[in-house]
Amino acid sequence: HKQGVAVLGIYVADLAFRAPNMPGLGQTIAGTGFAMGPGGKGSNQAVAAARVGAPVRFISAIGKDAFGDFALSLWRRETIAPHVRVIDGAPTGAAFIYVNDASGDNAIIVVPGAASQLSEQDVERERQAIEAAKVFVTQLEQPPEAALAGLQIARAAGTTTVFNPAPALAFPAQVYGLCDFITPNEHEAALLTGIEIHHIDDARRAADVLLERGVGCALITLGAQGSLLHSRSQSLHLPALCAGTVVETAGAGDAFNGAFAAGLAEGMSAEEAARLATAVAAISVTRPGTAPSMPSRQEALALLDTHASVLAQ
Ligand code: RIB
Ligand code: NA
Repeated sequence: HKQGVAVLGIYVADLAFRAPNMPGLGQTIAGTGFAMGPGGKGSNQAVAAARVGAPVRFISAIGKDAFGDFALSLWRRETIAPHVRVIDGAPTGAAFIYVNDASGDNAIIVVPGAASQLSEQDVERERQAIEAAKVFVTQLEQPPEAALAGLQIARAAGTTTVFNPAPALAFPAQVYGLCDFITPNEHEAALLTGIEIHHIDDARRAADVLLERGVGCALITLGAQGSLLHSRSQSLHLPALCAGTVVETAGAGDAFNGAFAAGLAEGMSAEEAARLATAVAAISVTRPGTAPSMPSRQEALALLDTHASVLAQ
């Protein structure tokens, strides 16, 4: 029987630099902090799902180098099963992350390295890992043909599909009809639909466009405005949660997607899974780093409990 989550995506080493501002061209400024940690949207989502308690398989490609070893030790520690091609001669990817000191906001340059070679054949080779999962999740950091192949295998096998169209890059139109859930943030949803999103009503209109294109349900994240879960049968605005001072928002979307997939895989309704995802993302932004900032299941449930008791008062 089906179990857990299969994630297709990339791993990169995140090199995070904190500074009061972004240097201009030709300028050198003193930063206020540096950290290296595991990143890449797919691997981050796998970590978020595993910490919530889901059995996780991660499909990817890395190089045969120090960053690649770092990835393998991360997945071992997090009990994520790697279904990963190690490509000799290609580098494991890396990301430059600028984190603004004051706001925690970020700007990122990501180089997927070996993972840019992830192909339909790689995904086909991991067909069983996708078929055996309850939920399949992918993004757009690896080539879109690989994402499409994964979604097709999942759909044919009755595995629930979650497509996180991040970063905002073009993908084949066939993908829409393969999405049980599509999970753009407000910027990605605006680019996909041409609808500028300021308020929840804008998000609803964008979600309707995504439904017309064939997705089963649109789950649009809206930062401080929470998220919108919108299908033909329900339209729910879920408020954001606050778990403390925001220190780094990079990886919040990954926290959300990984936890959402894990929630669905354990049989939660879309609404319950989205609430869990909201809590996981809320905690992640209060801690530095991307994957390392993912909370445990207990921490996420505790935040949901606190919030429920505040509402009850
Ligand atoms: O979503 C955040 C991630 O995007 C970072 O970990 C960075 O690696 C980029 O890929
Ligand atoms: Na974080």
